[in-house]
Amino acid sequence: MKRIVILISGRGSNMEAIVHACRAHTWPARVVAVVANTPQAAGLAFAAGQGITTAVVDHKVCGTRDAFDDALAAEIDRHAPDLVVLAGFMRILGAAFVRHYEGRLLNIHPSLLPAFPGLHTHRRALAAGCQVSGATVHFVTAELDHGPIVMQSVVPVQPGDTEDSLAARVLETEHRIYPRAVQWFVNGRLRVENGRVRQLDGESQLLQ
Ligand code: GRF
Repeated sequence: MKRIVILISGRGSNMEAIVHACRAHTWPARVVAVVANTPQAAGLAFAAGQGITTAVVDHKVCGTRDAFDDALAAEIDRHAPDLVVLAGFMRILGAAFVRHYEGRLLNIHPSLLPAFPGLHTHRRALAAGCQVSGATVHFVTAELDHGPIVMQSVVPVQPGDTEDSLAARVLETEHRIYPRAVQWFVNGRLRVENGRVRQLDGESQLLQ
């Protein structure tokens, strides 16, 4: 049984999608803890309501970035995870932290990486006149919003789209690709070769 720890900063809808999928499909995995970097993260209540252990490592009370990373890793490692899932986790993690979880740390980003890493992705996609946008699940490397791509979704940008309408359309696909990527991971169906991810069953890594 693989042990999953999910990190959130806010609403936690991706975390919810993974928790539901894990239960519904009886994966050989369990979400053993949900950890937030702020006590205000709304998703904590959902997790607690599901009987999942929750914890807060508040970045505001950790003096430095390194102190925060160390406290966060200590909390995560108490749960001996096989996989750590960043789900709307809005803190930048240092190189040592990322190295510690190399190969077992996933993130989702609401753009077609490598386009638009960082913040305000939908605003930037609209400003650039993109005709499509989407989301990317990737293994985390030390470089922000980079790393081997596990799965992507593509959604059309529609005339009259606002940041909010585009974000909502992309989010709906995030809830489909993130659980699938996690399922592949816990079933051992992913291999990273030369910086690229291969799905060992040849399943499509693109949701259109
Ligand atoms: C998602 O769009 C995620 O890709 C981005 O922030 C949002 C978090 O949403 N990093 P939620 O907390 O999972 O609902």
